[in-house]
Amino acid sequence: KKVLFSGIKPSGELTLGNYLGAIKNWVKLQDEYESYFCVVDLHAITVRQEPKDLRARTLQILATYIASGIDPDKCTLFIQSHVPAHSEAQWLLNCFTYMGELSRMTQYKDKSQKLGESISAGLFNYPVLMAADILLYNTDLVPVGKDQKQHLELARDIAIRFNNLYSPTFKVPEAYIPEAGAKIMDLQNPEKKMSKSEDNPNGYILINDSPDVIRKKISRAVTDSIGVVNYSDEQPGIKNLINIIAAITGRKPEDIVKDYEGQGYAKLKQDVAEIVVEELRPIQERINQIMSDKAYLESIYRKGAEKANYVANKTLRKMQRKIGFIQL
Ligand code: TYM
Repeated sequence: KKVLFSGIKPSGELTLGNYLGAIKNWVKLQDEYESYFCVVDLHAITVRQEPKDLRARTLQILATYIASGIDPDKCTLFIQSHVPAHSEAQWLLNCFTYMGELSRMTQYKDKSQKLGESISAGLFNYPVLMAADILLYNTDLVPVGKDQKQHLELARDIAIRFNNLYSPTFKVPEAYIPEAGAKIMDLQNPEKKMSKSEDNPNGYILINDSPDVIRKKISRAVTDSIGVVNYSDEQPGIKNLINIIAAITGRKPEDIVKDYEGQGYAKLKQDVAEIVVEELRPIQERINQIMSDKAYLESIYRKGAEKANYVANKTLRKMQRKIGFIQL
């Protein structure tokens, strides 16, 4: 079987963007691939985290994976910091990555603009850790949202560089970017991606938002004055709502548009809200159930850590050998 790897960082509550851009596709792909799903806590501390919130969110994300339909009997679910090889491999790969490459990462550029001088070295190096995550597992496929595409290309470049310098060591991974859910936009500013770090909570839907909150946020979504439902870049707010339906139902945007011929935006918003509420309702219930059984969660991440450590250490030793370290 080919190998799939992906992860989410526990730096905030999960949004509908995380679910539609990532998790929902993992559920579809898990049977076809040998899959690793990681909670990337090392990545989360590139910006300050409250320790107790970080702990709670790490488990919450693990519970969300399972609640969304990831089968822990088939897949390896683990917490990044439980596999020290990630940090070690990152150091090695740091020495095969150029400052220039990292300075060109758009996510780094955006964040450093916001944070100025107080940006951590970890935030700069973050894409190298992501490359280590992926390459340690001989990954073929990495299902992510569009915002991670550039990071994935860097991981490929690093893998190719290392392979060329020594001998074939890493598999060169491919990105899997979904059509409809690749970039869910902010409901208040549909030119920006939906993100939990935005100031206005009306812009994002959290996986754990209550039905009423979801309805309210969608009814307030920014649209336009055209008044006709089209799937067009000139109507980014409406396009985003159609994408949400398409990502949840699997229907084509053009077919969805036909349902709204001769209708205004109110009906579309109502339908989007109900579709989102119904998609998230069973997931929310299962998250609550799973979170109340910490022993179950622990059994999952312990088993996951064992498997992940085994595979990752094998690759790490291979890297060390090729570089010229004395093996113990
Ligand atoms: P993170 O934690 O920011 O986001 C997790 C996943 O959610 C996707 N995503 C979105 N998709 C569509 N629309 C949106 N508005 C939206 N917002 C977020 C992201 O593309 C991502 O797939 N560096 C990564 C985590 C990571 C990783 C990895 C991923 C670390 N190591 C190895 C894959 C493989 C990140 O910060 O994602």
